Order: sequence, then C-alpha cells, then structure tokens
Amino acid sequence: MKHFLNLNEISTKDLKGILKQAQEMKDARAGLPKGTIDENQPLHQHIVALVFEKPSTRTRTSFDVGVRQLGGQPMVLSGAEMQLGQGESIADTARVLSRYVDLIMIRTFDSDTLYELAKYSTVPIINGLTNESHPCQIMADIMTFEEKRGSIEGKKVVWFGDGNNVLNSFLHAAGKFKFSLTFSGPKELDPSKSLTQEAKNLGVEFYIDRDPYSAIKDADLIATDTWISMHDDPKVKKDRRNQLKAFQVNEELMSKAKTDVLFMHCLPAHRDEEATSGVMDGKNSVIFDEAENRLHVQKAIMRWCLSR
Ligand code: CP
Repeated sequence: MKHFLNLNEISTKDLKGILKQAQEMKDARAGLPKGTIDENQPLHQHIVALVFEKPSTRTRTSFDVGVRQLGGQPMVLSGAEMQLGQGESIADTARVLSRYVDLIMIRTFDSDTLYELAKYSTVPIINGLTNESHPCQIMADIMTFEEKRGSIEGKKVVWFGDGNNVLNSFLHAAGKFKFSLTFSGPKELDPSKSLTQEAKNLGVEFYIDRDPYSAIKDADLIATDTWISMHDDPKVKKDRRNQLKAFQVNEELMSKAKTDVLFMHCLPAHRDEEATSGVMDGKNSVIFDEAENRLHVQKAIMRWCLSR
C-alpha cells in the first residue's frame, strides 16, 4: 500500500512522477470551469475522507475540490466532532474509516498519530500536515519553482525565520531533488539536530547562516512562514517577535537578492510580520501560484496512492 507520509520515505522517481502528472493534469484543464471533472475520472466511485484536527483553508478546499475533479466523493470530517476527539483510539478509528472510504487524508498534531493511523489503516493515508512536517506543501512549492524556472536540482533554497514543520519537509525534499538548503534564523529556532544530521548523512547540502544578508546572496528561491505555528503556545509571541525580527523578508533584504529569485510563503501569512506586503505582492512573489498548485499536486498524490 502506498501511504504519502513524508518525502524522505518516497523514491525520487515516484516524487518526480507525481510532479509530472500534476503538471499534465493542470495543463489539460487550463481555462475550464473549476467543477469540470477530469476526462478519465481517476477517482470514479472512490470516497476520500479528509480529517482535520487543526484549522485549514488551503488544504481543506484544495483536497475537497481535487477529489471532485478526479470524479470521486470527498467527505470532510472534523476531528473534534468525531469520537477521536472523545478519546477513541487512532487504531480503531483507522480500522473503522478503512471500511467506509478508499483513501484518508489527515491533518493532525503529533506525527505519531499519523503513523499510528497508517499502521492500522487498510487504505492509503496522506499527511496533510503534522507538527513535524508538511509534505504536500513542499511538493506544491517544487512544482511551482519548476514551472517558473525549470529543474530545482542544484539550486539554492533559503529559508528565513522559524525552523518549523514546513522547513523539515524542505529538508526531506533537498535530499530527493538535490538542491541546497540554507536556514537563516535564530539559534533557538534551529531545525532539529537529528533531522539536519540525518539529511547531511544522506548527502544533503544543508547550511546555517545567521546573517540574512549573506544567506540571501545567490538564492534561487527564498521562503518563510508564520513566526508562530498552529501548535505553538501563543505565550511565546513576544519572545518570538524579538528573536525573529532580524529575519523578516522585506524590501531591503530582497534588494540584495538575485533579480529573478522566487519568493514563497505557504500561507496563511501575518502580513508585515515574517514578510512585508511589498514582498508578498511584489514581482518575485509566487505565493498564489503555490496555493493553486496544492490542488494539482495533491490530485497527483491521490492518484499515486491508489495506483499499483
Ligand atoms: N498552507 C496550508 O497548509 O494552508 P492551510 O493551513 O490553510 O491548509
């Protein structure tokens, strides 16, 4: 069975195949109304459960629309309204949902929940974000980069700010797609040592540069994210702002980048905090292309999960 849990567990060949199919499906339906069902209806007669234990706009909408475009039937479930929220075990939830649906996407807190679900499910599981990773987002980001600039192999990607779950998936992807990754943020918010060491052992070019002006030099892609993630204690707010203000992506910092650098943010953003509106709406920004590509790439991920 093919679960889509984390990028480091999937072969480069399969990941590239997913991106290729995503681009082909996107091109094939260009200009069509959003509700048009794709020609061969790959999810015909399939039901997909979309389980959310955390808020979402993009993941929820893009998976729902994606299932419909593939000819399947989406079922959006809120974790809080399920018995899961009343203490039913993940294992039993997995066994039960597997009897009703053909595929499960889950957004949850701890990655142990994701892996427990995958262990007991008899249908494929897709990671729609955990505290530790966000692989669907990074597949959309790579698709967006390659659409605009060609292969990401050998390119320099720079992450500014908090070493969070999205950065972790960038680290996984760096090993699979062979790009270099530089983290520019405060020491307190470095990505986990075990993850960076694991990546380095696999040959990933990973660097830490505390000087954002030096980090941005020669970057092909720069990315940032909110300074406080959904799972962070809101009490850290003030400290975080102080720790991170030097790593804000603003016009002054961007003026030191290559003119054709791409700016990405997975959204939602706190405008004028981690990045200024001038950058988010500026000529290098592709933030809404990224958001759109979540739809196309997740359709290809669902097809991959259900393929033999
Ligand atoms: N980027 C992202 O996953 O957005 P949502 O939280 O709105 O799903």
